[in-house]
Amino acid sequence: MAEPRIGVVGATGAVGRVALELLAERGHRRVRAFASARSVGTSVPFGDRELVVEEATPERLAAGDLDLCFFAIGTAVSAELVPPAADSGVTCIDKSDAFRLSEGVPLVVAGVNDHVLGGSRVVANPNCSAMQLACVLKPLHEAAGLARVRLATYQSMSGAGDAAIRRLHETDPAAADLGMDWEFDGEEFDEEFKLRAETRKILGLPELPLSATCVRVPVLVGHAQAVWVETAEPLEPEQARELLARAPHVALADLPTPGAVAGTDKVHVGRIRRDPTEPNGLALWVVNDNLRKGAALNAIQIAELVLERQPLAA
Ligand SMILES: NC(=O)c1ccc[n+]([C@@H]2O[C@H](COP(=O)([O-])OP(=O)(O)OC[C@H]3O[C@@H](n4cnc5c(N)ncnc54)[C@H](OP(=O)(O)O)[C@@H]3O)[C@@H](O)[C@H]2O)c1
Repeated sequence: MAEPRIGVVGATGAVGRVALELLAERGHRRVRAFASARSVGTSVPFGDRELVVEEATPERLAAGDLDLCFFAIGTAVSAELVPPAADSGVTCIDKSDAFRLSEGVPLVVAGVNDHVLGGSRVVANPNCSAMQLACVLKPLHEAAGLARVRLATYQSMSGAGDAAIRRLHETDPAAADLGMDWEFDGEEFDEEFKLRAETRKILGLPELPLSATCVRVPVLVGHAQAVWVETAEPLEPEQARELLARAPHVALADLPTPGAVAGTDKVHVGRIRRDPTEPNGLALWVVNDNLRKGAALNAIQIAELVLERQPLAA
């Protein structure tokens, strides 16, 4: 198989930098870095070398010299840059929410719903919180059927990109008021809506009752979730542990913390116990590195699935 020609758009950002690190670790060599006009001429680390950043323009991304492109940029810029690249034949894996709920665009968590990957040139990467939740819910649903999910999230600052990371470093922890950086419709933050809508799409359960309260916390990397699940059939905590121990991209831990999980590849689940207030209720604590499986790593795993299914001509 020919070596893929890969672009990373948003290479100077929190997710883009991790994507470059993971691509270099995997031995990719034909990689180019793109960002806004502001970054042109700067360089970003790529393994033991540096890549000079190019401006991401529709013309440059559709010039016919890329096979695969990761987009780690905001929604509006993705909406502008992805379609021309996809139309020119580039497989576009987008991390924004521009296409996640679009009809015909697969929304993929590698290891959870790989089967929805068809020949689409645009593949959407879910919200980081939906990603880690889906990894844990899928095996429980297959075994006992999900009846209801409730959760509270404790999301790290890096989940909102470099500007939020700077805000964390500049804020006095004693007076920490880091803001919520989400849109509010009077009842829900858009993060809470996305978590419900995207989890439903990923699991193919359009009516799944799922209610979330999402909060940003002064943590650098690693999103935590307290999750309460009701299943249609009884499921003992020990059975859930066995199912999750075998689930792709999931690891069991007694009490995972963001600090311990940052820099690792798996979704960590601990405190799996009966919810004493529900006959078929389980409670779980789920922690994941939002920049890796929550974003860059999942996108690269999607690319690997695409290349496995449609190898490039040698
Ligand atoms: N952070 C996470 O944990 C996470 C998880 C899942 C999904 N996501 C999604 O991934 C995307 C990137 O997030 P992030 O956290 O990496 O954000 P970030 O740290 O703010 O980085 C944003 C990147 O977008 C680039 N950019 C901005 N305007 C551009 C333009 N007009 N043309 C080309 N590039 C442009 C920036 O380049 P310059 O340096 O040149 O401005 C920078 O490289 C967002 O859609 C986010 O919602 C993030």
